[in-house]
Amino acid sequence: MEKKLNKNICCIGAGYVGGPTMSVIAFNCPDWQINVVDINADRIRSWNSKDLTKLPIFEPGLDKIVKKCRDVNLFFSTKIEENIAKADIIFLSVNTPTKKRGIGAGYASDLKWIESSARQIAKFSEGHTIVVEKSTLPVKTAETIKTILHSFEQDDFISLGKKKKTFSIVSNPEFLAEGTAINDLLNPDRVLIGGEDEHSIKLVADIYKTWVSPKKIISTNLWSSELSKLVANAFLAQRLSSINSISALCEFTGANINEVSGAIGADTRIGQKFLKPGPGFGGSCFKKDILNLVYLCRFYGLNEVADYWEQVVNINLWQQNRISSLIIKNLFGTLSNKSLAIYGFAFKANTNDTRESPSINISKNLLQEGAKLTFFDPKVNETQILNEFNEFLYEGNIKVKDTALDAAKGTDAIIVLTEWEEFKYLDWHSIFKIMRKPAWVFDSRICLDQKHLKNIGFKVWTLGTTD
Ligand code: UDX
Ligand code: UDX
Repeated sequence: MEKKLNKNICCIGAGYVGGPTMSVIAFNCPDWQINVVDINADRIRSWNSKDLTKLPIFEPGLDKIVKKCRDVNLFFSTKIEENIAKADIIFLSVNTPTKKRGIGAGYASDLKWIESSARQIAKFSEGHTIVVEKSTLPVKTAETIKTILHSFEQDDFISLGKKKKTFSIVSNPEFLAEGTAINDLLNPDRVLIGGEDEHSIKLVADIYKTWVSPKKIISTNLWSSELSKLVANAFLAQRLSSINSISALCEFTGANINEVSGAIGADTRIGQKFLKPGPGFGGSCFKKDILNLVYLCRFYGLNEVADYWEQVVNINLWQQNRISSLIIKNLFGTLSNKSLAIYGFAFKANTNDTRESPSINISKNLLQEGAKLTFFDPKVNETQILNEFNEFLYEGNIKVKDTALDAAKGTDAIIVLTEWEEFKYLDWHSIFKIMRKPAWVFDSRICLDQKHLKNIGFKVWTLGTTD
């Protein structure tokens, strides 16, 4: 049964995906009311904070949009039930972490939050509701959501006297990259909408058409849309594992990885983007999504395909481990009684997100060798860093400092693991003076001026070069 369009959207999950995505929709669609709901009351409180530097997510440009739209047509609350009831369209943006136990542990996504959200929608929605999968999900998740929702359609139909509920499921995966989320949302390469009924696809497409060219809006069937999201992330990650594997070869052959990356990327069939070598990819998506793909392939007996994609994740871990090993090797094979400064804890620049950050694994390897570590990251706070190392903490072996200079004091080496722009412009002369000699810089992001550092007196290791 059709309900009169209230122009009302509810988004379940006020995280890195739900928050920025809904803010941009609210900004472009002033005639729609957007309610972002979350079970985490602290997170909602932060979203409603008067001080815009206290938003739970740091994302360039987000604060300005929130300032303009919040409490106008964008609302953050914990009132899940009433906002589900009012909504024409409900976006599911809850987290889908890799399962830690049971069937598929270590590979498959844990869909418990998707399932509980679907049950809430089934219970509290009214009339016709379009349910949009925004979270990245294993292929065929829409089937699970449909089964839950349709069983409630039946229940309601049977319990006489109530208005019949109906649902359509649409897949509309997010392609935003953290740090550039607002720009990615405002100027997307494409918007993908997969579904089974034209009406629902059109309604969701009409929202995006207020600021995205119709040429960029692709509609597919549900399963193509779900699979395309996993494959897009797998291809992106594959490029990184490919270039990172070659960075190791450069270090033996005298080739320079930046030159190689520039030369191959000049071929328009390959392209320049996403070829920047580094300490391996992090973030909440790449590893999780590839492992999901691997699980799916094994489930259907495609073991060779599964092994092929799993290698992308293996090389990523190998890159992190080899960087840790060569730091140890260069520091005379032992880190006992040595202090190292870790510059950068976020998984990439311009975000405060540390999920799957290469800094975590590399730091753990160094701690295991007995190193003392001092961290500095411009956007990641002390608690967030210390939480990652609970099992390694003893006698102040891990410290977090507010400035790069403080973090460097008395250390033997600086390990650059996130490419924060400000690292380029640090007062490296002053840093050198307060370090123990020989003073090392290990630049895993190739973001510093190697020549300048060497002139000051540093010993420098830069990823993918023999210089
Ligand atoms: C997550 C996934 O990591 C990503 O793969 C997917 O594409 C989108 O969802 P993200 O937004 O980064 O991305 O996750 P997170 O920042 O953890 O936010 C999820 C939010 O959902 C949390 O604030 C959590 O409290 C909330 N949530 C979870 C609910 O409101 N209800 C639930 O039942 C479960
Ligand atoms: C990714 C996808 O890009 C996005 O489309 C999807 O929706 C979510 O997952 P995100 O993880 O936020 O986005 O950031 P991304 O820019 O893709 O970076 C992922 C990791 O790869 C980071 O650790 C980054 O430092 C690394 N990276 C990226 C490189 O090492 N080199 C590059 O050239 C690009």
